[in-house]
Amino acid sequence: MASELKILFAVSELAGIVKTGGLADAVGALAPAMIKQGHDVRVIMPAYRSTFTSLDSKVIACGEVAINYHQRIGFALRQACFDGIVVYLIEHNDYFHRAGLYGEHGQGYGDNSQRFAFFSKAVLAACQLIDFSPDVIHCHDWQTALLPYYLKVDECKTPFFNNTGTVLTIHNAAYQQHTGSHLMDELGIAWRYFNAACFEDCGQINLLKGGIAFADRVTTVSPTYAEELLTEEGGHGLVDSFRRRHRDLYGILNGCDYRHWDPATDELIPATFSKEVMQGKAVCKSALQDRLNLPVDDGKPVFGLVSRLADQKGFSFLMPALQRILRENIQLVLLGSGDRAIAEELQWFAERYPDKCRFINGFDNGLAHWIEAGSDFFLMPSLFEPCGLNQMYSLKYGTLPIVRAVGGLKDTVEAYGDKGEQGTGFVFEQPCAPDLIACLYRALRVYGDARIFRQLQQNAMSQTFTWEESAAAYCDIYHSIN
Ligand code: ADP
Ligand code: GLC
Repeated sequence: MASELKILFAVSELAGIVKTGGLADAVGALAPAMIKQGHDVRVIMPAYRSTFTSLDSKVIACGEVAINYHQRIGFALRQACFDGIVVYLIEHNDYFHRAGLYGEHGQGYGDNSQRFAFFSKAVLAACQLIDFSPDVIHCHDWQTALLPYYLKVDECKTPFFNNTGTVLTIHNAAYQQHTGSHLMDELGIAWRYFNAACFEDCGQINLLKGGIAFADRVTTVSPTYAEELLTEEGGHGLVDSFRRRHRDLYGILNGCDYRHWDPATDELIPATFSKEVMQGKAVCKSALQDRLNLPVDDGKPVFGLVSRLADQKGFSFLMPALQRILRENIQLVLLGSGDRAIAEELQWFAERYPDKCRFINGFDNGLAHWIEAGSDFFLMPSLFEPCGLNQMYSLKYGTLPIVRAVGGLKDTVEAYGDKGEQGTGFVFEQPCAPDLIACLYRALRVYGDARIFRQLQQNAMSQTFTWEESAAAYCDIYHSIN
C-alpha cells in the first residue's frame, strides 16, 4: 500500500463554493476521492466575495508576500471545512472582494495576472504559516501556473519546501493569460526567463506557458487531449512547450461525480430511474416539456444542450445544423450562458420555432439536471474538448450523447455504427455542419427503432468513469516526483 501523501490543491474554483465550469466539478470530486484513499488533501483558493455567503470560514492567520523587490502585500488566511475537505482561503479585499471571479459583463479584469500572481505567492506563504509542507502542490490552469516558477526559483533555498514538488493540470489550454512584458517586475519574474522556452510568447508574458516549463509534471484531463496538445492543430499555439515536456505530460481522464449525477439518487429531478427501472425517465421527459411549455409528447425526440456559450463548444457548425434539424418533428432544449452573440442566435431559434425550441440564457444547475434526465439526446459537438463532463452525465442518464470525435469526448463515447447494437452515442469527425447534420439524422433514425434505441440507452447507462481511478493515476504521478 502506497504511503499517505500530503497534497495541496491550489485552485481558483471549487464546486459547491464557486463555479464557472467543469474545473470546479473536477477539483470538487478529485479531492474527496483522494482523501478516501487515505491522503491528506487540502484545498486553497481565493476568498471571493461570494465565498463569504457560500461558506462559513474563520481567519486563522495573517501573512505578507513579497511579489518583487518593492512590493509587499498583506493577506488574511481563512479556514473552512467543505464536503470533508479542509479549505483555506486567501483574503485580500482589493483583489478578490469583487462581483466576479475573473471578470464582469463578459470582460476579464485588467489585473488578472497580478491577482493570480499574488494568489500563487500567497499559497506558498500560507503553507509556512500553517506549517504544512506538502509533498506536492497540485496547480490547476493558468490561475496557478506561476506557482511552480515561484517555488523553483524564488524558494529554491527554502528548506521548508525541500521535498515539495508541483503538478500542473491543464483543464483547458485555450486559456493561457497573456500579459504585457512591462509586468515582468510586477509579477516577480526574472528577465532571464523571458525567452521562448519559458514565459515569452510573441513578445508577451504567457502565464500558462511558464507553468508548463516549470512544473515537475504536467497533466491534462484526457489521454486524447494530451496527444492533441502535441500537434500543431491541437496545441493551442503551445505545441513547442508541450513537446519539450512530452516525457512529463500525462492525460488522465476525469471521472464523473455520481454522488451528484446519478439518476437513481438525484434529488433534483422529478423522478428517479435506473437502467433496470426506466419508467422515471419518461416522467422526467414530460415534466421537462411541461416546465418549458413545449407540447408534452413522449413520441417527439428531445435534444438537450447545457453549455458555456463559447466557440470551443462548436456553435459555428451547430447553428446551421440546428436550422436543418428543426425542420423535423423534434424538440430542442438549450441552456447556456456566456457569449452574447451566441445567445442571440439561440434566442432567434427559440423565437422562430416556438413549438419546438426553448433557449434559457443563464446558469441553472437544477435545470441542467432536468435536461440531462428529460432529454433523449445530448448535444456536445465541440470544436475541442479537453475532457467534458456533460457527456459523462448524459451517458448515466440514458441521454445519448451526440459528440465530435475530439479530446475527452472521443475517450468516453463509443460510436454507434449503424450495424448491430453497439455503441453509447453518436460520433462525427469533421468540425463542419454537413457531418454534424448526418450524425443528427443517424440519431433520428435510431430513435425511430425503439429496440435499438433502448439498447443504446442500456449500453450508455452501463458506463462508469470513477474519480477513484483518476485519483489513483494522479497519486502514481505524485509518487514519481518524490
Ligand atoms: P466546461 O468546463 O468546458 O464548461 P464541462 O462539460 O467539463 O465543460 O463542464 C461543464 C459543467 O458546467 C457541467 O457541470 C455543466 O453541467 C455545467 N454547466 C455549464 N453551463 C451551465 C449552465 N448554463 N447552467 C448550469 N450548469 C452549466
Ligand atoms: C475545462 C474543459 C472541460 C473539462 C473541465 C474539467 O473547463 O473545457 O473539457 O471537462 O475543464 O476538467
